[in-house]
Amino acid sequence: MKTAVASSSLNKKHTIRLGFLTLACVLFVGFWLTSATAGKVIMQDEPGKPELQKICKGCHELEKAYSIKQDRNGWQLTMEKMVSFGMKSTDEEYKAVLDYLVKNYAADEVPKVKVNKATAIELESGLSLKRSQAKALIDYRTKNGPFKSLDDLKKVPGIEAEKIEARKDRLSFEQ
Ligand code: HEC
Repeated sequence: MKTAVASSSLNKKHTIRLGFLTLACVLFVGFWLTSATAGKVIMQDEPGKPELQKICKGCHELEKAYSIKQDRNGWQLTMEKMVSFGMKSTDEEYKAVLDYLVKNYAADEVPKVKVNKATAIELESGLSLKRSQAKALIDYRTKNGPFKSLDDLKKVPGIEAEKIEARKDRLSFEQ
């Protein structure tokens, strides 16, 4: 009888301790999961996702492919840029990925690119310029003073006029 009581109270203690342990584990895993996934963009399961996962990795992390948000025009320019880096895809894959990106990574409110103040990095990502083009733009700006209009920008050697034209709504000539 005595032993039965002792062992049942031991069991109870044991159960409580186990309960605490489980709780601690759940909390720990919970925190770990939250911090591990915080800031990560979760990809929506929609048409175009498998194609994106196929063609947008290889040169950089897949995450980089959808690290920005922009409008259709912007995504089109980004994809053309990737093609110029050597990205390969079929026309169907290209279209599926473009549609996926436009739908799932649309611009909320795109800040304007201040062409007279922007750094090389801002010019590269904001206007989908290549590094060499961003550098040429800054060199030109340093030499000739601030840009006043779209036409001024088109004078920069190596800049593709139609690309700049496509982004004209995003340009700010603020000095
Ligand atoms: C053939 C190689 C290659 C493939 C494939 C590729 N990229 Fe890139 N991507 C690059 C390189 C190189 C950079 C870095 C650009 C730089 O340093 O200017 C880059 C950078 C980026 C950036 C950062 C912004 C920018 O313009 O630099 C985005 C966004 C991006 N890639 C999206 C994509 C998407 C979307 C796909 C698939 C449709 C893709 N990439 C596939 C080579 C590639």
